[in-house]
Amino acid sequence: MSDRYASFARSAPGHTLVKQLGLPVPPRLRRGPAIDGPVVVAGEGRFADTVKGWYAGDTEEADAKIGGLILDASTLRTVDDLRALYDIVQPIARGFRPGGRVIVIGPTPAEAADAQPWNAQPASALPGDAQPGEEAPGITGADSAGIRGAEAAAVAQALEGFTRSVAKEFGRGITAQLIRAAADAHADGLRTTLDFLLSGRSAYVSGQVVTVGPNIGPAGDATLDGKVALVTGAARGIGAEIAKILAGKGAQVVCLDVPAAGDSLAAVANEVRGWAYQVDLSGEDAAARVTEHLKERYGHVDVVVHNAGITRDKTLANMKPDQWDQVLGVNLGAPIRVTEAFLAAGLIPAGGRVIGVSSVVGLAGNRGQTNYATSKAGVAGWIRALAPRIAGRGITANAVAPGFIETAMTAHLPLVVREGGRRMNSLAQGGLPIDVAETIGWLAEPGSAGVTGNVVRVCGQQLLGA
Ligand SMILES: NC(=O)c1ccc[n+]([C@@H]2O[C@H](COP(=O)([O-])OP(=O)(O)OC[C@H]3O[C@@H](n4cnc5c(N)ncnc54)[C@H](O)[C@@H]3O)[C@@H](O)[C@H]2O)c1
Repeated sequence: MSDRYASFARSAPGHTLVKQLGLPVPPRLRRGPAIDGPVVVAGEGRFADTVKGWYAGDTEEADAKIGGLILDASTLRTVDDLRALYDIVQPIARGFRPGGRVIVIGPTPAEAADAQPWNAQPASALPGDAQPGEEAPGITGADSAGIRGAEAAAVAQALEGFTRSVAKEFGRGITAQLIRAAADAHADGLRTTLDFLLSGRSAYVSGQVVTVGPNIGPAGDATLDGKVALVTGAARGIGAEIAKILAGKGAQVVCLDVPAAGDSLAAVANEVRGWAYQVDLSGEDAAARVTEHLKERYGHVDVVVHNAGITRDKTLANMKPDQWDQVLGVNLGAPIRVTEAFLAAGLIPAGGRVIGVSSVVGLAGNRGQTNYATSKAGVAGWIRALAPRIAGRGITANAVAPGFIETAMTAHLPLVVREGGRRMNSLAQGGLPIDVAETIGWLAEPGSAGVTGNVVRVCGQQLLGA
C-alpha cells in the first residue's frame, strides 16, 4: 500500500505545509548494497587500525560530506573517557550526508567491568580502603577494583544511550547503531556487520545494539554459494523477499508455504530458481514431514528462516481458544518443533544459521494482540536461549524483530493504527519487506559467524518498546 502522506510531504507544496504544521517529512531512504560517501574511522580502540584498512579508500574526499562514521570506543572505561564521544561526534554532527551512518563499537558491559586494568591493578585506593598492614574494616583493595569495574560497565552501557539518541536526533535518514564486541571477538568478525550497517541494506535498521563475539563455526565472506536455505511463509510479503535476497547471494532456496498459497509460492520459487514445498506448519506431523522432505531431497539445510506467521487479533476478553492456539502454534510452536527435528536429524551442518522472525509487538505488547505478542516475545526468548546451546555445533541463532512493514498484513489495519505505525519511528515511515530480508541476509552470511543470540529490530527505531 502506497504511503500517500510521505509522497505529499516530499512534494514542493506539501513540504512547506507539513513543515509549517510541525509534522515529520519522511526522508527518502537509500537502499541497496552501496556505502554512500566517505567513511571516517575515529577513536583509539583495538579495532580502529583494522577497520581503517577496510574503508580507508573511502576517506580520501577531504571536503565531502560524511557517508559513515565508525567510532571505535572499545577501550573507553571512565566517565572522563566518555568525553571522546562529544569531542569526535559534536564537531561533525552537521557534516553527514542524508542517509549517513554512525556506528559506535564498544565492549560488552559485563566484560568491560572485568577487563584490565581494574582487576589486575587496583592501584589507587578508594576512600575507606584498608591500607597495607591495617586490619581496619572497610573496602579492600579487591573491592576497589570491583567498584571501578562498575564504572567501566556504566561507560559501556552509556554508549547505548549516546547511539540511540544520535539515531533519534540526526534525521534525514541517518541511522546510528552500537556494535558490542566481545573481548574474544576478532576484528575480522566485525566485517560483515560493518558492511551491512554502513550500506543501504540497513536503511530501516536504526538505534540497534548488535553483539559480535568470536566466530561460531566456519566463517567466510558474504556469499551463500552452494548453500541450501529454507524460508517458511515464502509465498508473499516478507518471506518472498527473503527468498529473493538469499537466492541473490547464491543460495538454493526451498520456499515453503501452505497448499492454499500454491500458485504464488510456485511463482516465487520459479523467480528465485528454487523449489516450492507446500506444507501447513500447523499440522501435527509438520516438523517430521519437513525434516524428511529436506533430508531426502537435499541431505542438509544450511540456513533456516522461520518467517511464516499469522495474526488473529482480538482483545483477550473476546478471544476464542483456537485464535490463541493457532497463533502460538504457527508463530512459536512450529519454529521450535521444526528446529528441534532438524537438529535431532543432524540436518543443519556447522556454519548453519537459524533465524527467527519476532516482532516489535512482541517486545512492547499491543492491544488486541495478546496471542501474537506472546508468540513473538517467545521467539526472541527462544533464539537467545538456543544460541549458546547450538554454538558447539557451529550454528548461530538470531532473530529479527520487524516494526511496521508495508505488507498485506499491515495493509488490513485500520487507517489510524496504520498511520500511527508508519509515523511513530525515527524515520517517520514504514519499512519495506526488503529491509527485513536484507537484515536476514546479513545474519545468514558465512562471515557473520560471530553474530549469534541477537534480536535485531528492523523498525526505523520505533518508539514502541525498549
Ligand atoms: N508486516 C509486518 O509489519 C510485520 C511486523 C512484524 C513481524 N512480522 C512478521 O513477519 C513475518 C512475515 O510477515 P508478512 O507481513 O510477510 O505476512 P504475510 O501474511 O504477508 O505472509 C506470511 C506467510 O506465511 C504463510 N503461512 C501462514 N501460516 C502458515 C502455516 N501454517 N504454514 C506455512 N506457511 C504459513 C502465509 O501463507 C503467508 O504466505 C511473520 O512472521 C510476521 O509475524 C511482520
